[in-house]
Amino acid sequence: MTKSLFTAARACLDASTADAKPALTLAMAAAFARGELAIPVDAPPPQSIRMPGRPERPRLVHPRDLPRRGFGTDEGRAAFIHAVAHIEFNAMDLAWDAVYRFRGMPPEFHADWVQVAHDEARHFNLLRARLREFGRDYGDFDAHNGLWEMAEKTAHDGLARMALVPRVLEARGLDVTPGMIVKLRALGDHATVEILETILREEVAHVAAGSRWYRWHCERAGIEPHARFRELLREYASGVLHKPFNTEARLQAGFDLEELGSLLAEAG
Ligand SMILES: [Fe+2]
Ligand SMILES: [Fe+2]
Repeated sequence: MTKSLFTAARACLDASTADAKPALTLAMAAAFARGELAIPVDAPPPQSIRMPGRPERPRLVHPRDLPRRGFGTDEGRAAFIHAVAHIEFNAMDLAWDAVYRFRGMPPEFHADWVQVAHDEARHFNLLRARLREFGRDYGDFDAHNGLWEMAEKTAHDGLARMALVPRVLEARGLDVTPGMIVKLRALGDHATVEILETILREEVAHVAAGSRWYRWHCERAGIEPHARFRELLREYASGVLHKPFNTEARLQAGFDLEELGSLLAEAG
């Protein structure tokens, strides 16, 4: 019997350990690729959003309570790798929530976000393995819940979700990762550099998927995408946009030059 993609997505959201969530994500993405998970046509959308499964640790704290550490010590580098691993753990949930929540979409929408979930699981596993080489594991440092909070704020609106999660939060990764790579390379940490280079390359496609579906929503609703994007930024994410931008990556990810110019004027 063919299972439902929505049931599979819910199971991945509910998976709560650092082993189970990526393992189930990879298994469900493979099952979807084999055509074993059907997209129900008439299933009503979920009425609410609940916290996905999480391990007992990391402890979630306010971002201002997270210590800032440099890369100079092994402890600082491990904390950095942990912070990125935490982003990837959340990114699995964000991708599955897009699959699960937004219904009546073209099948390509679901295929895109299943692929993103799959990539995020690989990113998490790569970073977790690297963290273990430092004698640490996922959960050993505190983390914050900002990514999932954006999922909650945009749960009612697929257009806002596509604008704010991939095109703001994931796009921020495109901007900051090259600088991290330069610092880590200078320290001779080529193993971490290699992982970040893989992530950076694949995240361009995630933001591009966000751009595609953001425009799709705008077209369907007769909304001018650039002006609406700036409105959404002010409404949901003021202070989140920072210079400098990774212009090349953002252009590949579906921003255009005129748009980047007007966003730069708003960025802090
Ligand atoms: Fe990722
Ligand atoms: Fe991503």
